[in-house]
Amino acid sequence: MRYLIFTDIHGNLEALLAVLEFAEKKNIDHYIFLGDLVGYGADPGKVINKIRSLKSISYIRGNHDKAVANINSLEGFNSIAAAAILWTRENLSDDNMDFLTQLKKGPSQVKKDITICHGAPFDEDYYIFGELDAAEAFNYLETPITFFGHTHLPFVYSLKNSLVKGTYISGKAEEVELKENIKFLINPGSVGQPRDRNSLAACAIYQPDQHKITFYRLKYDIKKAQDKIRKAGLPHSLADRLSVGV
Ligand SMILES: [Fe+2]
Repeated sequence: MRYLIFTDIHGNLEALLAVLEFAEKKNIDHYIFLGDLVGYGADPGKVINKIRSLKSISYIRGNHDKAVANINSLEGFNSIAAAAILWTRENLSDDNMDFLTQLKKGPSQVKKDITICHGAPFDEDYYIFGELDAAEAFNYLETPITFFGHTHLPFVYSLKNSLVKGTYISGKAEEVELKENIKFLINPGSVGQPRDRNSLAACAIYQPDQHKITFYRLKYDIKKAQDKIRKAGLPHSLADRLSVGV
């Protein structure tokens, strides 16, 4: 069994297409998406349509999906993010707005041993940025494996004998062994807006039978995504940041 773990596409169609093409080559059985389909990028509708076309997929909403669907106020978003959310609302079909509105809030249990959440299991908007946050999150988790997104940083946290250890994943095809009797909290990094000073699209493949997860960074047409953002009238900084990965 091979799961594609991916999150934080943020309307970046070019990055998503690169990830899906890669996933097809790798014979993925099931897709697991951790939220934030939209916000920032110029192709929210095409991204949603692509995700809706995947047959075997589990997903939850992200904070930007929720904001675009008008479920909460824009309080807490900086002015650039808020501008992108307002632009996205204006550029989605009613059908795709309904789809965003109906997305479920995490945490959610997928299969028998996986939990998924966007930010943290106790708050979908909370950022897990270090071992203290991860330790708090583990208190809420029953399954051996949890996948999360939101920070846009590829990370593995492990819990063994009450000790939490965090590891930043910097490699291009980095494999991590998932030993039994250890709990893991894993972020695959962001597809459409990486923030670890690496501009390549991030995703991971989880293989439970082999007790391992492999993190990947993939090339995509960054220039095309940037041109679309500038042409759409979105803040230009949203295009600029894609080439530096911030
Ligand atoms: Fe995000």
